[in-house]
Amino acid sequence: MYDFRIEASDKNSLYRELAEAADALTAGESDPIANMANVAALLWESLPDLNWAGFYRNLGGELVLGPFQGRPACIRIPFGKGVCGTAASTLEPQRVADVDAFPGHIACDAASRAELVVPILVEGRLIGVLDLDSPAPGRFDKEDEEGCVRLVQRLSARLGGMEKADFQG
Ligand code: SME
Repeated sequence: MYDFRIEASDKNSLYRELAEAADALTAGESDPIANMANVAALLWESLPDLNWAGFYRNLGGELVLGPFQGRPACIRIPFGKGVCGTAASTLEPQRVADVDAFPGHIACDAASRAELVVPILVEGRLIGVLDLDSPAPGRFDKEDEEGCVRLVQRLSARLGGMEKADFQG
């Protein structure tokens, strides 16, 4: 049984504890889907005011729905489209306070008001994006963005199938 107690009083500590828990959850596992599934569940359980937390994978130059928590979502997103596709094409995190003001935002759940999308790079290659949605406008601040960027950087090899274990016979 996994029972992580994330009890941080400030966001910096929160994301440090989350990264440590995610590291422990994925240690020694090389399957990226299993690792994405557990990280999505951890974020969903630990971050307040979310209505969606999960991953899209870069499959052949298109984002395809990966493991997530929340309501069923759009399955395929072309690069350059919506918040996720913009993160994929620019390779820059996208932090959107009001999704209605974001040109081309793709509404998977009408309840979503704010969104944070962080590209996941492994050795300079985009392997997917982390996507967090919230029903609260302005839910994500710079600390959320930086915390998610650090978490994704720490785990990227385990989310992209580049773990050493992949190459062992
Ligand atoms: N809103 C996203 C689509 C993915 S869902 O929010 C899960 C976008 O504009 O890319």
